[in-house]
Amino acid sequence: MLKTRLGELTLTNPVLSASGTFGSGWEGRGFSDLSRVGGLVSKTVTVKPRPGNPPPRIFETPAGMLNSIGLENRGADVFIPETLPKMKQLAGEHGRVIVNIGGESIDDFVELAERFTTAGVDALEVNLSCPNVQEGRLLFSTEPRMCERAVAAVKACTDVPVFAKLSPNVTDIVAIAKAAEQGGADGLTAINTLIGMAIDWRARRPVLGRGIGGLSGPAIRPVAVRMVYEICRNVKIPVIGVGGIASASDVLEFLCAGAAAVQVGTAQFADPALMVRLVAELETELAAIGATVEQLIGAALPATEASA
Ligand code: FUM
Repeated sequence: MLKTRLGELTLTNPVLSASGTFGSGWEGRGFSDLSRVGGLVSKTVTVKPRPGNPPPRIFETPAGMLNSIGLENRGADVFIPETLPKMKQLAGEHGRVIVNIGGESIDDFVELAERFTTAGVDALEVNLSCPNVQEGRLLFSTEPRMCERAVAAVKACTDVPVFAKLSPNVTDIVAIAKAAEQGGADGLTAINTLIGMAIDWRARRPVLGRGIGGLSGPAIRPVAVRMVYEICRNVKIPVIGVGGIASASDVLEFLCAGAAAVQVGTAQFADPALMVRLVAELETELAAIGATVEQLIGAALPATEASA
């Protein structure tokens, strides 16, 4: 009933963690049995270690959260021997292990894709869209041709499915989605955070150390649903919906918009057992209406466009 497919990748259920909101899963292992979720997506891994942005890096907003982490991570040399085996252990036999990679250049993406393919992952998520770093990355998420080139370069050096994570901070996300599809992406993840800001007016300065950050949580869900819907009307590859998901009802909304799977992010800060609960709740909801996940994918799209 819960099974879904992301191209060639089959998931036992559509619930995945969103990159950067659940570490590698290891930090959350005490709260639930993570082998019951569809898969775990790592925090972005870069070639070299990154210290991240100056603090404060997190700020709670009325309906979500601003973050400016700056891709802090220990780099692939540490992640591959130390963290990846733990992700595989947590995912168990059926859960998928998806590593999110971030590069400052196409060479970085290629190196990471080659190394993680050799190390054995189920899929790669290419982070084209972090709003909290500069280093030229913006071009990969805003320039269709750069996006296509980055995706094509990754595809050329791996045989695992490649998902491109898209930024909402563009005029036309469909143009970027089509470029990623043209580059050979096996699927798209939509959306990353919306660029935002909070100001401490008493101190007369921005709250976050870097000034700006990425807004996530329930506040962005309608934006994410709209973008997933528009992307699904215009591409043939599967889409993973992400943005403010906190309930089974939210998951079903994204499925109807066309998403074949979803990622749960900010809500996990309040409830680290949420993903596993959502899997159970989805089963109950679907049993009540006598439907499967695959039957609901794209159910709200105009009849001729449902891609499920
Ligand atoms: O700042 C960060 O590490 C966020 C990454 C992202 O949104 O992709």
